[in-house]
Amino acid sequence: MSPDAQAVATWGRYGPTGSWNHTTSGTCTLSDLGVHLLRLHALTQRCGRGSTFVDLGVAHGVSSLALALDAIDRDHDVYGVDLRFADLGFDLRAHPRYHRIRGDSVTVGSRWDRGGIDLLVLDTLHVEPQVLCELHRWVPHVRPGGYVVVHDTAWPPGSHDLAWHAGAAAAGTVWPTPDRAVARFFGLEEHFAHATHTGFHHVDDDLEVTHHPDSWGMTVVRVGGTRDYRANIADWDAVFAQRAAVLHTLFDEATLRWYGVDLAPPGDVGVPP
Ligand SMILES: C[S@@+](CC[C@H](N)C(=O)[O-])C[C@H]1O[C@@H](n2cnc3c(N)ncnc32)[C@H](O)[C@@H]1O
Repeated sequence: MSPDAQAVATWGRYGPTGSWNHTTSGTCTLSDLGVHLLRLHALTQRCGRGSTFVDLGVAHGVSSLALALDAIDRDHDVYGVDLRFADLGFDLRAHPRYHRIRGDSVTVGSRWDRGGIDLLVLDTLHVEPQVLCELHRWVPHVRPGGYVVVHDTAWPPGSHDLAWHAGAAAAGTVWPTPDRAVARFFGLEEHFAHATHTGFHHVDDDLEVTHHPDSWGMTVVRVGGTRDYRANIADWDAVFAQRAAVLHTLFDEATLRWYGVDLAPPGDVGVPP
């Protein structure tokens, strides 16, 4: 190998700063994933070579790093979707198998054309209608036997993601948390209602679900691909309208346009009767 080729190969393998786990963000907290970081990586090991992973909600890139860790060796492609990538660390910008998609997770999901997904991770805005809309747009792209992972599915009672927001606090708004979205979408209400500090495990003819209640909760759903879970929700237009209300609480029209957010109701849901 020529010195130039050697340099490119080395750079492509370790990134411009020498390792994919390098970050310049100092001592700030980079992620609240906690033990789930290891769980995420363990899930990648259950997927075959050449898999496709999608990370909705990247921030500093910790979840993305777990997905990309051996993507070069195992020929995976990892897509990170976020409204902004200003905080992205770990040299993921230069990782040859990591692809950034700047945009709104729900809008990007409605236009996804990069094939079947083996592992989908949801960790954007932690409110029920946002997570439901993401599940609506993305789960149909998950391959049979693939995984849907939702972080933040176990909150202390009474708390919610937008408690920091002055407008929401003044209006007394408490948005339901992502566990409720997972429960409704996959028909797991009973399981979540009776979940204890040990979580739960559920298997049926299509699903295998493991709910971990630690580190804000993570629910791992393996989908068999024989059911369209969108049929579990009767009125998707109402759910999309609720998400629009949440986003209007957070952003003005110009910002929503800048992010390219499409707030239209789903219309052609395609759910069988
Ligand atoms: C909790 S952080 C993600 C944490 C990350 N998964 C980790 O491992 O630490 C949430 C991220 O979701 C992004 N986000 C919020 N709403 C979004 C949306 N509608 N579409 C895409 N990304 C969104 C935010 O910009 C933020 O970076």
